[in-house]
Amino acid sequence: MNHEVVFLPAGKKTAVRTGTTVLEAARKAGIYIPTRCAGKASCLMCKITVNPADAGMTLPTAAEERKLGPLLEKGIRLSCQARVTGNMNVTVPEDPFKAVVRRQLERQAEDDLW
Ligand code: FES
Repeated sequence: MNHEVVFLPAGKKTAVRTGTTVLEAARKAGIYIPTRCAGKASCLMCKITVNPADAGMTLPTAAEERKLGPLLEKGIRLSCQARVTGNMNVTVPEDPFKAVVRRQLERQAEDDLW
């Protein structure tokens, strides 16, 4: 059965089968999520944010509970571990380098106003 996964803030959507990892769904949708451990729950680079009440994904794995701890309550998950079980929205954090560039451009735009 296919489920729709929407990646925010880009708004890109994809349809994937039950059991697909969110990381695999992101790749299918053309969304870049950084990884370094090939999905072994050790690099913590593939974090995403979801609504904790969202029934569209599996419960946290033991590895996620060990690695994320209290972050799970804030809706942080590891996209390499969380598997799609229904329609869901996923927020992908902004790339840190892009965030720095964006903030500099925003500051420059504010300075240009004065
Ligand atoms: S890819 Fe490394 S923790 Fe998910």
